[in-house]
Amino acid sequence: MTEQKYTRQKVLQVREWVPGKLLSIKVSRPDNFKFKGGQYARLGLSNKIETDTEPSIWRAYSMVNGPDQTPLEFYSIVVPEGEFSPRLAALNPGDTIYIDNTVFGFLTADRFEPGGTLWMIATGTGLSAYLSMLNDPATWAAFDQIILIHGVRTKDELAYSEEIRQWQANSGTQALPATFVYLAIPTRESIPGVPQERITTLIENGELEKLAHCPLDPDRNKIMLCGNPEMLADARAILKKKGFAVGRRGNPGNLAVENYW
Ligand SMILES: Cc1cc2nc3c(=O)[nH]c(=O)nc-3n(C[C@H](O)[C@H](O)[C@H](O)COP(=O)(O)OP(=O)(O)OC[C@H]3O[C@@H](n4cnc5c(N)ncnc54)[C@H](O)[C@@H]3O)c2cc1C
Ligand SMILES: NC(=O)c1ccc[n+]([C@@H]2O[C@H](COP(=O)([O-])OP(=O)(O)OC[C@H]3O[C@@H](n4cnc5c(N)ncnc54)[C@H](OP(=O)(O)O)[C@@H]3O)[C@@H](O)[C@H]2O)c1
Repeated sequence: MTEQKYTRQKVLQVREWVPGKLLSIKVSRPDNFKFKGGQYARLGLSNKIETDTEPSIWRAYSMVNGPDQTPLEFYSIVVPEGEFSPRLAALNPGDTIYIDNTVFGFLTADRFEPGGTLWMIATGTGLSAYLSMLNDPATWAAFDQIILIHGVRTKDELAYSEEIRQWQANSGTQALPATFVYLAIPTRESIPGVPQERITTLIENGELEKLAHCPLDPDRNKIMLCGNPEMLADARAILKKKGFAVGRRGNPGNLAVENYW
């Protein structure tokens, strides 16, 4: 008999951040499911959840939990016209979800030389890949400083901000050696003291460096971009002019990117 390429798992918990738009889901972790922070799983659902038939639709989801943490956790948008995400959002504890045995992805902290400053720049649910890295003590030990930038449409979409502020409070200690900066930037609502602008605008006009109190020196800084593919394309073009480039064979580079669609 051929071995299955996936396992059947159980939904343990669903948490809604923004009704109908953003949720997190905890799922039982398959045995021998190993990954690095920033990698993603392929989740599968069957056409008829109630009959537990085999999966017919699959989507990529970055892990939120750290490599040594159980259960698995995923953070998801609900695209109303999407095929997968509304069905994911309709799951309840006890329901079945499938997980491919293989993990994927190269947006991991170990792709860069250690030291210096690591910028984690996300729009929307692109945050999830960074949460997994931040849930891994190795990331905190590898860099002197970590700067997390989260661009969202509205304030209520700043999911996980309490957890992130806990890291902020405990950063620069033996447990979390790197210093940590967190900038939450909504574009369709204002937060006092935060410019209501897209991240790309703030990179281009130099404001992001000022807000983070860290010049974008390509020799000391490494940048990750994750989320909206248009943001990635625009940011890559701007950062290229500032001396940032994705690594090539044998050269780790100082830029890494992951498109979510
Ligand atoms: C490497 C990788 C990792 C991913 N990790 C995550 C994750 O951790 N969380 C997550 O929510 N999604 C993630 N995605 C996207 C996810 O795989 C699905 O595309 C998404 O959940 C929507 O599925 P769908 O079938 O409902 O719509 P789809 O048919 O897949 O997408 C329809 C449209 O919805 C929009 N869209 C898709 N995904 C997003 C998103 N995340 N945010 C905003 N708009 C979106 C795009 O316009 C897309 O064309 C990831 C994708 C990739 C390639
Ligand atoms: N279920 C619902 O009720 C509901 C409601 C709304 C949306 N949605 C779904 O959510 C999806 C959007 O998700 P999202 O808001 O997380 O993602 P998003 O559209 O990528 O927006 C997230 C952040 O990225 C910014 N951004 C977008 N394009 C950019 C670019 N080229 N350069 C720089 N920044 C850019 C946005 O700024 P701007 O604000 O300037 O665009 C916003 O600050 C829609 O496709 C829709 O399917 C669902």
